[in-house]
Amino acid sequence: MALPMTGRTHGNRSAVTCRLRCGDACAKPVANTSENEYFRDVASRALGRRSVLAGMAGVALSATVAPGLVAPAAAAPIPSGVARGGRGGPSPLRFAPIAPVAPDVDTVTVPEGFSWDPVIRWGDPILADAPVFDPLQQSPRSQAAQFGYNCDYLDVIEMNGSGTRALLVANHEYTNEEIMFPPDEDPANVVRTAWAAHGMSVVELRRRRRGKAWTYVPGARLNRRITLDTVFQMDGPAAGSELLRTAADASGRRVRGTMNNCSGGTTPWGTVLSGEENFNQYFHATGTSPEEVRYGLGEGDEREWRTVDPRWDATTPDYANEPNRFGWVVEVDPSRPHSTPVKHTAMGRFKHEGANVVVAANGHVVAYMGDDERFDYVYRFVSRDRFRRGHGRAAARHNRHLLSHGDLSVARFSGDGLEDGVSDGVGTWIPLTRNGRSMVPGFSVDEVLVFTRLAADAVHPTKMDRPEDVQPNLHNGRVYVACTNNTDRGMPGKQGPTEPNPRPENKDGHIVEIVPRHGDHTARRFSWNLVLVCGEPGTAGTYFGGYDGAVSPIACPDNLAFDSVGNLWVATDGQPSSLGHSDGLYKVPLAGAERGHVQQFLAVPTGAETCGPVVHDQDGHGRVFVAVQHPGEDGSWEAQLSRFPDYVPPQGRVPRGEFAGPRPTVVQVSRTPR
Ligand code: FEO
Ligand code: CA
Ligand code: CA
Repeated sequence: MALPMTGRTHGNRSAVTCRLRCGDACAKPVANTSENEYFRDVASRALGRRSVLAGMAGVALSATVAPGLVAPAAAAPIPSGVARGGRGGPSPLRFAPIAPVAPDVDTVTVPEGFSWDPVIRWGDPILADAPVFDPLQQSPRSQAAQFGYNCDYLDVIEMNGSGTRALLVANHEYTNEEIMFPPDEDPANVVRTAWAAHGMSVVELRRRRRGKAWTYVPGARLNRRITLDTVFQMDGPAAGSELLRTAADASGRRVRGTMNNCSGGTTPWGTVLSGEENFNQYFHATGTSPEEVRYGLGEGDEREWRTVDPRWDATTPDYANEPNRFGWVVEVDPSRPHSTPVKHTAMGRFKHEGANVVVAANGHVVAYMGDDERFDYVYRFVSRDRFRRGHGRAAARHNRHLLSHGDLSVARFSGDGLEDGVSDGVGTWIPLTRNGRSMVPGFSVDEVLVFTRLAADAVHPTKMDRPEDVQPNLHNGRVYVACTNNTDRGMPGKQGPTEPNPRPENKDGHIVEIVPRHGDHTARRFSWNLVLVCGEPGTAGTYFGGYDGAVSPIACPDNLAFDSVGNLWVATDGQPSSLGHSDGLYKVPLAGAERGHVQQFLAVPTGAETCGPVVHDQDGHGRVFVAVQHPGEDGSWEAQLSRFPDYVPPQGRVPRGEFAGPRPTVVQVSRTPR
């Protein structure tokens, strides 16, 4: 199907990415028209501050153990979203920052003394029966056995003490049919193959010894593809609700597939969470009810999947509820390749960027989540049950249900005024559910969980500038919220600056630092400040954590990670239009005199965004992984704009298994061997 799109959008990405990934969300009316929290309301509230978890080291230790994975008993795998070590001091991964890179550079740019290589690319065979990638012979069957398209969330979870086995888990957010398929491809084959290119991948990695490069193992036992045809179980309070039933599933508990999986998180029990984000754009809908309008349904379904399967047509009575079965946090156990993945209704339904879990000092697990839309909210889930330590099956079985029951709340940030020159203040988690009951007058618990945005509107949370990753840092007990941008802030008829979102027409984004009260992630109150207000250094309104030396320019923070000593690593999405250079990955110390010292580690190829950073700085001289998403996004089959990472020359012979166009790819970066 032809998708003629050019130019840049005010959403800070190419028009192609905006249309295919988000359904042009930033060009549509703001979905949140509720009357919540204007600057004048928040600016006068009192400030309170408190820092750092008491006894956090013990919590961090418990959170590094992932008992669910199949691994030699002597060595538990270590979710890399959970920093190891924690002895303090500088990270072992030392580098000289790179300069910003022009957006037409079609390679991964890394610091002096480092090199990069692909770990796995779109189309690489994963399952035992997978054919070699052939872009001219794509089918749903081949794609469902190969690595999917547009990798976003990523983790590399080591499985043994010697560091020679690992599991790579990745999300596949969306497809770009224009550059994936020849123009004469059968449209139904394109649609069905695109379903298979969505979802997630689990892939075993091997290497000879620690410090060496990883390679993936085709056909390995734990390898798995999850697609739009994989059956999911819905669990939690809304499972079985009328709101989740369709002609194909009278139980309201069995859903086919997951899609638009953006970011995610690895849990302390070794499962992986993934956020279903811009699900609305896949459905044909009238867009007339408040529920549809608030979720952007009815704004068009560019891919026209309804022509191949009626479930994508929500205007029919049979499938009116099908959109309600997407927009959830899903949980996958990569150690059990035949397990049924779960959609957690207890964690609410919105445009989930991801979910990141920490074990609180009292043993309850806490998931932080962003709803990535202009003027939408930050959420928190606190489990009813407590995390159980240990490697046994009973503990694993118990922990697998921790996200099935608990309390959902939404954040209200109050400022103390900008007269002090600092964006900071206090905040409250406002309850939406408690003990399995609705806390929102007029909403049943099913309605709170299925129409979470509407329920949240009723309790007046703070409208944020597109909250993406919301990531707890085990080293200081604080939580970091990447607000990627919001060029609508302060525009006519739209909410103006607030202390936690202090800039009008915010094209560069900022990062909020949340400090839970008394270091307790389950506490109702917190304090907060802004650690970064991004942009070109020296321009009005930017702030780099108080650091007064030279910093790398940075904009549009999206995915976050931490290294072994608690430095923040920030991946960006949107710099070609905001700053005029490629997206990249940045290290940002959070403590001491170096706080806010932004240093660029890498830049991604032309058209790509940087996703899913994983920092293994204790692996030899250090190893960093990123998911390079949508390289060459503005091209077409006949006129590809990127050849990353195969670099097949134009008009040259295409080697078997390669592609004369761009392939979304997981890349590893490490110090070049001498
Ligand atoms: Fe898929 Fe919020 O980025
Ligand atoms: Ca202030
Ligand atoms: Ca993202």
